Amino acid sequence: MIQQLDELKTKALQELGTIQDEKELESWRVRYLGKKSLLTSTLRSLATLPIEERKSAGTRANQLKTELENGLQEKEQALREAQFTSGTQQEILDITLPGRPLPTGRLHPITQTLNEICDIFASMGFQISEGPDVEWDYYNFEALNIPDEHPSRDTLSTCWVEPKAESGEYNMLLRTHTTAVTARVIEKMEPPIRVIGLGKVYRYEATDATHLPMFHQIDGLAVDKGITLADLKGTLYEFARRFFGEDRKVRFRCDFFPFVEPGVEMAIECLACNGKGCRLCGYSGWIEILGAGMTHPEVLKRGDIDPDKYGSFAFGIGIERLPMLRYGIDDIRLFYGNDLRFLRQF
Ligand code: DAH
Repeated sequence: MIQQLDELKTKALQELGTIQDEKELESWRVRYLGKKSLLTSTLRSLATLPIEERKSAGTRANQLKTELENGLQEKEQALREAQFTSGTQQEILDITLPGRPLPTGRLHPITQTLNEICDIFASMGFQISEGPDVEWDYYNFEALNIPDEHPSRDTLSTCWVEPKAESGEYNMLLRTHTTAVTARVIEKMEPPIRVIGLGKVYRYEATDATHLPMFHQIDGLAVDKGITLADLKGTLYEFARRFFGEDRKVRFRCDFFPFVEPGVEMAIECLACNGKGCRLCGYSGWIEILGAGMTHPEVLKRGDIDPDKYGSFAFGIGIERLPMLRYGIDDIRLFYGNDLRFLRQF
């Protein structure tokens, strides 16, 4: 049997040496190492040999198996290398293919909108400012000429942080508007001032398709000698033109806010029906987008700015509504639902 195994070895290794491709190598493997190979049947028949012979034949047969397996591995490696250097590997590794795209992040649509609006006002000379989300009662209300009995101080729409003191006064809250940022600016800065205050604001309100307890605002403030309502209109008109497009019509109407006098509201021609009247604009053709006005003299005085010397205008814009109008989004909750199918569209 040993002799038989030796012959087998010579033959197998000889054949292995002449093999040129993977197909031949596979049939060689089946022939010499497969289930029906001579080696396998020899190994199986060992049990029938007398004990003496079984030992030496067994060792030899196992040795041969290892030798053939090693030979097979080396040949596989050699064929692979030969293929690679000869270029047939091109089918597997095409270095001219473009790379696989890596998933990249993007800015949230609200951040994109804030950036866009900041760019517009920055190009008109406004600087950007921020204030704390947890604000003093003073900057959110008092400094802005909002008296105690004003409805926006109602606990229903304000998230108070500090419980009502014994004196009956609240003093810390989540700011209800970014006008609080401009109240701080009026106190700190000297005219001429052109500032945008932006950030999150909070209201104690139930959530629905158009309301959230947290949303974003931008407030603007300009203080300088000789500022008039014409400057306010010009600035906001330019903003609407840049944000909504050249031809979008704009309408100003009187409104009331305690910190401005006179106060106005600005509306744009409805984006859905171009002013004809539809459900979105309540069949009026107009959509209100911001509040504004000439800063109230009392507000300027609180910041030690002389209202007889300086003119000032202010405006406040809710951010979420803008992309909603522009892209026809009908539910504000989509912005904060973390659904990538929605967010990836921007
Ligand atoms: N703060 C107001 C609000 O949240 C909006 C506003 C109106 C801001 C008029 C202003 C302004 O600066 O002049 O409803």
